[in-house]
Amino acid sequence: MFNDKRGLAMTASSQDAVDAFDSCVDEFLASGRDAALLLKKVSDVDPEMIMGQCLRGYFQRLPAQAHLAAQSGDSLANAQSLTATASEREQKHVAALAAWCDGDIRKTTALWDEILLDHPRDILAMRLAHTMHFFLGDLAQMRDSMARVMPHWTEDLPGYGFVLGCRAFTFEETHEFEPAERLGRRAVEINENDIWAGHCVAHVLEAQGRRQDGIVWIDEHETAWQKRGIFAHHMWWHRALHYLELERFDDVLAAYDRQFWTEPSEDNIDICNAASMLMRLDMLGLDVGDRWETVADVSANRIAPLQQRLRPFNDLHFMMALAMAGRRDEAETLLASMRDFRDSQDNEDATITPTYRDAGIPIAEATLAYAAEDYSRVIDIMRETRYHMVPLGGSWAQRDVWVRMFLHAAIKDGQHGLARALLAERTADNPSSAPSWKLYADALDQCGDADTAGTARARAAELLAA
Ligand SMILES: [Fe+2]
Repeated sequence: MFNDKRGLAMTASSQDAVDAFDSCVDEFLASGRDAALLLKKVSDVDPEMIMGQCLRGYFQRLPAQAHLAAQSGDSLANAQSLTATASEREQKHVAALAAWCDGDIRKTTALWDEILLDHPRDILAMRLAHTMHFFLGDLAQMRDSMARVMPHWTEDLPGYGFVLGCRAFTFEETHEFEPAERLGRRAVEINENDIWAGHCVAHVLEAQGRRQDGIVWIDEHETAWQKRGIFAHHMWWHRALHYLELERFDDVLAAYDRQFWTEPSEDNIDICNAASMLMRLDMLGLDVGDRWETVADVSANRIAPLQQRLRPFNDLHFMMALAMAGRRDEAETLLASMRDFRDSQDNEDATITPTYRDAGIPIAEATLAYAAEDYSRVIDIMRETRYHMVPLGGSWAQRDVWVRMFLHAAIKDGQHGLARALLAERTADNPSSAPSWKLYADALDQCGDADTAGTARARAAELLAA
């Protein structure tokens, strides 16, 4: 037995192997580009290190890409062949990977949380539980999981900042913005490479509509975060959201072309960034040119086989791209594949099956209807489904694209009373959005309330002049 840098016992052939494992985990925590390379180093040093095999399996499942996920069974088999000499903690990691490969992601997260009861400094279990609670929209579990480990961490422990960043994000997603911002900023002070903590602060500034602060926050750390991996693109997407709300539409398109969709990408984060920004622009009536095409091209690679149905949240972004690019046949194929996944007996107990049923498939149908200009159908679906979206995972800011779709359907369908009501919600929740105030003014005019419309329009002008 050897120890990792936080004193956790590790089954390995040498301290070098454990040190290589630590380096790989550090890179993963910082969303670095070299995690795969560093994992290879772990297997070069110790091909029979059980946690190395688990980590490989985790890395193959995390991106939610079928060709990688298909390889995770081999990593699991390797890890299972090594359990005889492994500790109880390591055996639980193997069981967690097995449950994940089996589609029982909630059992997986429960096992990581169980590991953390006895080993709250297992930073890998902590970060994985955090990430997958987030992906499942299990916000209370995400918050509690981090609250439980915090008393076991002090600032002198390696990796403390990463833990603080995750704790901060749990506050943000449960709308406790003050501690979220304070802890997130502190984590970035400790380690500027902690882009996940930086992302937490970006979310606070987005949720509070602090547009200039939000832009400055990302500008200030751009040099450091540029050196991180693909997740940095999501930060540039966040900055572009602020441009959007300030009606700096040329800047949004420039960020799209030069920062977060510089070329077609197979990465789900990239595809989601691109599709959801184009959707926002398109719904506001802006010309996005032929930009839907390349996003639809990569989305078309993910439509048919059931093995591709790994995360309804991602599927809905593929759907957006295909439907809005006018590629209806491919969009229908994707929808059929989502329904087949829901109906397949093999998936009866899969964690994501109810999410496909309650949110994934209805919103996919609504997206197709939106693209077909069948706005009343969008309204029929989204009126209820908007309240069942949290299990899709992703952030409030990301899921907002479907709330916007509901709103724009109401406007386009001439349902002015509904549009006025939705915009009353929206301007109350986020009073610094100039486009929302303008839309609100239009809806109020349509409802014959010219006085209030004038006040709403003045508010938009005030925001844009600031
Ligand atoms: Fe985000």
